[in-house]
Amino acid sequence: MVSIKTKEEIEKINIAGSVVYGVLELMKTVVKPGISTNRLNQLADEYIRENNCTPSFLNYEGYPKSICISINDEVVHGIPGKRKIKKGDIVKIDVGACYKGYHADSARTYIVGQTNEEIRQFVNNTEKALYKGLSVIKEGIKLNEVSKAIESVAKENGYGVIRELTGHGIGTNVHEDPYIFNYENNESELTLKEGMTLAIEPMFSLKKRNIWMLEDGWTITTQDGSVAAHFEHTIVVTKEGYKILTGE
Ligand code: MF3
Ligand code: CO
Repeated sequence: MVSIKTKEEIEKINIAGSVVYGVLELMKTVVKPGISTNRLNQLADEYIRENNCTPSFLNYEGYPKSICISINDEVVHGIPGKRKIKKGDIVKIDVGACYKGYHADSARTYIVGQTNEEIRQFVNNTEKALYKGLSVIKEGIKLNEVSKAIESVAKENGYGVIRELTGHGIGTNVHEDPYIFNYENNESELTLKEGMTLAIEPMFSLKKRNIWMLEDGWTITTQDGSVAAHFEHTIVVTKEGYKILTGE
């Protein structure tokens, strides 16, 4: 069942979302060569708590840290630890915050210093896929249209679409109905309605789409070692379109 949120509920998600936005802006300034992912986690955790929220991911199904940091061939759910950021790393940071019981979820991919043109384009295009997916959203459209729009960007460029991971509804739980696939599929027959709150999150690989899960039980990597990118916003469906809840 896909729930419709009230104005008050959407406001709480938006407050959580602006804290998530603040964390991702902060990360932009501190994701530099030499900093450990543990330290990034600590800075994010402090920021979230100082802003009257709690980190949504900590203890979520046993997840041990407050944010996810996934580097290069890691797609998502990387666990912060002693690893240090290096020049040229492609760093995905995924943040969730909870305000008065309501969650918001957003992620970005950061390029640390410089990388080659192919990877730069790849990261840019993954972000474009997020906005292309968002651009079709309004009350009355089929969810599959969002999936198709996201997938079209991967198809044009020959990227892999990770199939095992999806976007999702969000609210009093981090993950709620529906699943939002990043490729065309028949399960997305749902018609969007005003007040649905959704986390849209394209996850692409530069080459093949196949993934492994590491022995830590969380970290997802590409099988071929190719780099992955991930962008995510939490949004609310409106009559005319959508509103980003994890923006400024
Ligand atoms: N943003 C992540 C997702 O939608 C949630 C991570 S939960 C965690 O999949 F426990 F893995 F951190
Ligand atoms: Co998510």
